[in-house]
Amino acid sequence: MDVARVRQDFKLLQKEERVVYLDSACQSLRPRQVVEAMDEYYYDFPACSGRSVHRLATQVSFKIDEAREKVASFLKASDPSDIIFTKSCTESLNLVAKGLDLRKGDTIVTTDIEQNSNHVPWLDLERRVGIRRRRSRSTEDGTFDIESFKACMDRTVKVVSLAHMNNVNGATVPLREVVEIAHDNGALVMVDGAQSAPHMKIDLKTLDVDFFCMSLHKMLGPSGMGIMYGRSGLLRTLRPLISGGGSVLETTYDSDTPLPSPERFEAGLLNYAGIIGSGAAISYLEKIGMDEVTEHTRRLNTRITSGLKDVQKIDVLRPLAPDKRGSIYSFNVKGLRSHDVAMILDEMSRIMIRSGNHCAHPYFTSRGIDGCARASLYIYNDDKDCDIFVDSVKKVAETFAS
Ligand code: ALA
Repeated sequence: MDVARVRQDFKLLQKEERVVYLDSACQSLRPRQVVEAMDEYYYDFPACSGRSVHRLATQVSFKIDEAREKVASFLKASDPSDIIFTKSCTESLNLVAKGLDLRKGDTIVTTDIEQNSNHVPWLDLERRVGIRRRRSRSTEDGTFDIESFKACMDRTVKVVSLAHMNNVNGATVPLREVVEIAHDNGALVMVDGAQSAPHMKIDLKTLDVDFFCMSLHKMLGPSGMGIMYGRSGLLRTLRPLISGGGSVLETTYDSDTPLPSPERFEAGLLNYAGIIGSGAAISYLEKIGMDEVTEHTRRLNTRITSGLKDVQKIDVLRPLAPDKRGSIYSFNVKGLRSHDVAMILDEMSRIMIRSGNHCAHPYFTSRGIDGCARASLYIYNDDKDCDIFVDSVKKVAETFAS
């Protein structure tokens, strides 16, 4: 991958004073191709899709179809109609959790390292409907424990819902094995792919998951855009989260005739610029190749990990091996709050990282850890970014650690 070439597409990285952007697990930067695709919509055909019949509206409809086909092909989904546009991965997860007809006593299995988007909707259903939840426990090393997962499974489990790659330590779940065990027990599998889709090849046909949720803002796309993939047969019975214009064929004063998927789930005017920008983001990633993306961030994570491995005053959030942590390096400097580490790195070297509990409070509190600082890498980071980060963290540890 030609990182120098990639960096030229990101205006923020052209500034004289280097910004070291290491917060892509929260939100990635966007290349000019994505911004231009959205601009083109606003300047040249800023109309509504699926309603009016004039040429601008038709152009929007074509562009939306094209973006949906791109997403389907990126995820290896067999039918673009199984791809639903939402406003975020959180909305996608809610759509499934609340659209399945779950009843009192139904059992759901999640893990102990889910972020709030795959935790709070289930808490809500526990309180309102009376579903029950079991949590698969991570190993001491912070990785997925297949034995703990197996112990959660039996024929009462209706849904398994877990993050493919978590946002706290970057560990990945062996999805194929999980799906097989879940399906053997008659359970559906919903995957939070917010961290995995930006970083690895996803093949929904092979993975055989029932629902796959993701957002675009962590993978070069616009904010306010999410995807929910659902297996065709299941989408027919899933209840939409919202209803209204665009989702029905016709109505009377007393009834409505719903359209099939995807329209059934996409009531109201959509974020057309966002959808078009999402298509552009996916084209950008496909041009690079997802294997290249995976390899690039793994190499950089290895560089950071070995650069800091002998610094005594740093605790890395396990797992320690960089190839088990995707693009994420989470750590604490002894005696410093993670927010202080983040602010010092910004002040010292314009390094942008995230700090705190990363929307996964229960994982930290259950392990008695007061949050962590997290550097997360993407396609536009290079060796120099890593070296500035390593030198700066060393300085912080030498100067402030206890
Ligand atoms: N889930 C996002 C993160 O990990 C917000 O930063």
